[in-house]
Amino acid sequence: MHSPRGPEQRGEPCKAPTLQLFHAALGAVRPCLLPLRGAGRTPGRAPDHPLRIANSLTPSRGTVTIAANMDQPLIFFHISDTHVGSTKDYAHRGYRPYGRTELLIQDMRRLGIKPDFVMHTGDVCGDKDHHATTAHYELVRPIFSAIDAPWYYLVGNHDCAESMEATLNYGPHEVFFSSGREKAYKFSSRSHDCFALLSSIPTKREGIISKGQLAAFEESLSRSSSPAWVFLHHPPLSMGSPWMDGNMLLANGMELHQILRKRREQVQGVFFGHIHQPWQFCREGINYFSSPGAIFQFSTLPSDTSSNLEPQSAVGYSVVHYRQGQVQVNARTVPLSQASPAL
Ligand SMILES: [Fe+2]
Repeated sequence: MHSPRGPEQRGEPCKAPTLQLFHAALGAVRPCLLPLRGAGRTPGRAPDHPLRIANSLTPSRGTVTIAANMDQPLIFFHISDTHVGSTKDYAHRGYRPYGRTELLIQDMRRLGIKPDFVMHTGDVCGDKDHHATTAHYELVRPIFSAIDAPWYYLVGNHDCAESMEATLNYGPHEVFFSSGREKAYKFSSRSHDCFALLSSIPTKREGIISKGQLAAFEESLSRSSSPAWVFLHHPPLSMGSPWMDGNMLLANGMELHQILRKRREQVQGVFFGHIHQPWQFCREGINYFSSPGAIFQFSTLPSDTSSNLEPQSAVGYSVVHYRQGQVQVNARTVPLSQASPAL
């Protein structure tokens, strides 16, 4: 049984609520409105009872019940790919990650926002040879501690999972899947459920999520009745840029997407890094966002057949704000004029 297609699928203008995306990369601010599914109620008004939404894609599951905490506001910072080395002077593609990460954290403090949490979607440390040790994470840990919030980290392809776990401070969380080196965890923040998936293969650019982890994630998601947020290191779907699509994707991203689309009333967004570029796309009601690169930006154009950097590289991160049934992603870039030329 299928319900009639919604306005989004019919190509009609979206009324409300909306997803606001402010893309501030390279100094420009470009507000973009995308439809947000599954919350056809008056923004700002708390529902009198749990919002029950028929899930036409999985009739055997009956309904997806989203709890009244759809109205719980949430704000978090999303950063990615800081690539800090074992010394403050280490340079990655000519840029110094330690100083650029410091600059980024200083900008976060200037905002005067106390986030509910900070999510780092991977490649916290590691040099061009994919080498990261405890010393790398000990160097970067004091920088992150300047933001007073629970921090969460994902293992990127340049990271060392064991050294990360032993050195960095994670906020409260629960591991919902563990097999060998593969661990995935979840945590709650203001009654929202957040899922951190492991997609990295050490030293490989491409990523994959094991079938066991995907099954555990689907099971855990199906038992949640809260707004859900999903984090991983790799872009799950094609970006239309030959070098990115040939080197950087999650190999089984469509399998992940099929799980998410069954719960699209619940999934508020999927956030990733790895591509060093603020990027967003929407497919079948699932919204995907990447953080700006923390130390430089790759180019992700349809004409990019090799790894290219944006000519004006800068540090960046995103401020994600959920309020009144609306997801806002503000991709910030810190002007390089504030930075020392040595960075
Ligand atoms: Fe990466």
